Amino acid sequence: MKMQRLDKLISAKLNISRSQAKTMIKTGSVTINGTAVLSCDEKCGDTDEVRVDGRLISNDEFVYIMLNKPKDVICASDGKGEKTVVDLVPDDLRVKGLFPAGRLDKDTTGFALITNDGEFAHNILSPKHHIEKTYIATLDKPITDAVIADFEGGMTLGEEKLKSAKLTPLNPDKTEAEVVISQGIYHQIKRMFKKHGLTVLELRRTAIGNLKIDEKLAPGECRAIKNDELQKIRDNSPAT
Ligand code: URA
Repeated sequence: MKMQRLDKLISAKLNISRSQAKTMIKTGSVTINGTAVLSCDEKCGDTDEVRVDGRLISNDEFVYIMLNKPKDVICASDGKGEKTVVDLVPDDLRVKGLFPAGRLDKDTTGFALITNDGEFAHNILSPKHHIEKTYIATLDKPITDAVIADFEGGMTLGEEKLKSAKLTPLNPDKTEAEVVISQGIYHQIKRMFKKHGLTVLELRRTAIGNLKIDEKLAPGECRAIKNDELQKIRDNSPAT
């Protein structure tokens, strides 16, 4: 973990001089993880919660953003003329090196996670970590028990044997269903249904791990993901 001097962090975050930051520390205005710190030589790491007079001054090397992705926006950092999910990040959350952790199709909506933390992205995407992604699919025809069984059993798509997926009908005519998968191969859900002669008309991602999309976000809106929410994503992994 990268450590940084407390006075340096406070002066950078509050845009004040180092000596002003030192005075704040010496007068007891600063806490690290809830404990008052009086020494200017103290260091803090990326995950420490630093507060000045109660206000959070996090040592946030990494940012994690939840976007309610609208249609017609692509999951890429450089859209080569097309609008990307990164283009939708507002200035107050924008840092260098942002990219989408995983690729939703252009016409898929819902929870897109944008970050600059490559290791975190790798962990949530790697099938080894088994982080579940939950979607709502609208279909042109009803799903049958045979389709549900094939999803559950780990179907074969082309050469590939997929991991078990959960498929739960959500409406009486069985044309809307919740799908939970823990890997992310190209057009996976659309291809899984296609194998059974069904076409996905709409696809919306509603959760990553145990973290549900914030329903207050209108399409195209973003917000920062809080630390306890990141934990809800990690908690879904039996490997952690
Ligand atoms: N599966 C798909 O087919 N498309 C997506 O965007 C995500 C999962």
